[in-house]
Parts: sequence; structure tokens; C-alpha cells
Amino acid sequence: MSVLEVSELTVRSGPVELVREISFGIGKGERVGLIGESGSGKSLTASAVMGLLPEGLSAGGSIRLGGRELLETSEKDYSRLRGRALSMVFQEPMTALNPVMRVGRQVAEGMVLHGIKDRRAAKAAAVELLAAVELPDPEQAARAYPHQLSGGQRQRVMLAIALAGDPELLICDEPTTALDVTVQARILELILAGTAARGSALLFITHDLAVVASVCDRVLVLLDGRIVESGDVYEVLSAPRHEYTRRLLAASDLEGSR
Ligand SMILES: Nc1ncnc2c1ncn2[C@@H]1O[C@H](COP(=O)(O)OP(=O)(O)O)[C@@H](O)[C@H]1O
Ligand SMILES: [Mg+2]
Repeated sequence: MSVLEVSELTVRSGPVELVREISFGIGKGERVGLIGESGSGKSLTASAVMGLLPEGLSAGGSIRLGGRELLETSEKDYSRLRGRALSMVFQEPMTALNPVMRVGRQVAEGMVLHGIKDRRAAKAAAVELLAAVELPDPEQAARAYPHQLSGGQRQRVMLAIALAGDPELLICDEPTTALDVTVQARILELILAGTAARGSALLFITHDLAVVASVCDRVLVLLDGRIVESGDVYEVLSAPRHEYTRRLLAASDLEGSR
């Protein structure tokens, strides 16, 4: 059974459809990539699933997580699900981290809030999570404020926060795009290891086809808010059927290595 089942999801801004009747499912432990050019609707799809659409946009259709209809979930119930049943890593961690709260506390907070651990146990668990995402000195990192860490280290913190509730679904939206290539690969490995250890389903958004090939089992190709092609990542990238996918591929570094 699917962990996430999206059916005919449409995101509207007034009369304008930005995401148009997209349908896909993600099974337990499955890793699904969402690719497409800038503006194709990738982030809005993620925001719709997280219940975090910008003001003025609305979603129609159906988004089921573990059988529960998210589009009919109240904001109060949604806030119980976020960080627990589903969580997200954004491209720019600074926008999601609290600049005036120590990092360890930010990792621990969700666990306390969701009643997973008491404050003392959560504090210890936070340091363990920071170690698991390979922050060099996790005890010291826990005491740091976000601005005292590098971009790569902040993204590791975001990942620790996202994994702290053992989510059924993790969404990553261009998680390594803002990072140096030298740290990108390691962060991707940590995302894979973190989700594999928890059996979490992964929705992985990227415009980088080499990344989707290394991370995902299946891929969805988004064009103008519509899924124009989907399937096994190897099959889609080695024998794309849609002309748009071929164009994406031709514009990527993968083309030469095929
Ligand atoms: N708050 C908003 N109001 C109106 N249009 C928006 C809003 N956010 C995004 N869009 C539009 O929706 C489309 C898809 O955006 P987005 O999902 O962010 O694309 P992607 O993540 O694939 O680059 C774009 O054309 C964008 O301009
Ligand atoms: Mg985006």
C-alpha cells in the first residue's frame, strides 16, 4: 500500500492552474524523484503535501498519507503531523531554522512537542541525531546558533530535525542545490541512509538529473504543472519517451555519460 497517494491534485491561484491534476503514489521506503524546469510546479506540489501553500493558493483533488485525507485535515491536526508523519528539507536551511535558538534545542523541540521523548531524553537524542548527520563535534554543534555553522552543516541540522520524528514521508526540495559540490554527495548519502533506516518514503525534488539517478527508484517529470512522463528512473533516463524529458536530459551532464 502507498504511504502517499496523490490523486488529481490541482493547485490554483484564482483561475490559474499552477499544478494540474497530477497523480502519483509513493510506497513505504520508496524514493520518488520529481524533476522539471524551474517554474514547473515542483515546490508547489511539495507545499501542497505539507499543507504549506502560500497565501492565496488553494489545492483540489486528493492527498492521502497513510490513508488519511490531508486536504481535509485541519491546521491544528496538520501541525501534529508535520515533523512527525511527514517532514521536509528545504533548499535554503536558513529560512527554516530559528536564528535565535540553539541548534540542539531545535532538533530536540519536535520530539518534545510530539511527545516522543521528555526534554532530557530529547536533548541527548538531538546530539545523537547531530552525530548521525555527521556534524564534526555534535556536542558543540548542539550549542551553536545556525549562523555559526556553514551552509552544509545547517543542511545537516535540517535533516536531523526532519528525521527526528521518524517520518513516514520525507520531502526534500532541492536539498543540495545551494551547497558546494564537495558536500552535496555526502548529504545525499545521509538522506538515503536516514530514510532507509526508518523505512521512510522519499519525495525528492531536483532539477539535477544526475542527482535523481543516484537517489531515486522512480521519477516523475513535471512540465507546466502536469506530469508528462513517469516510471523507473533508469528506464526514463535511458529511454525517455517524452520530448521534454529528452530536452532535460540533453541539457544535463548525464547525456554525455549515457
Ligand atoms: N504564491 C504564488 N502565487 C502565484 N503563483 C505562484 C506562487 N508561487 C509559485 N507560483 C507560480 O507557480 C509556478 C510553479 O512554481 P514552483 O512550484 O515554485 O516551481 P518550481 O519549484 O518547479 O521551480 C510558477 O509559475 C510560479 O511562478
Ligand atoms: Mg522550487
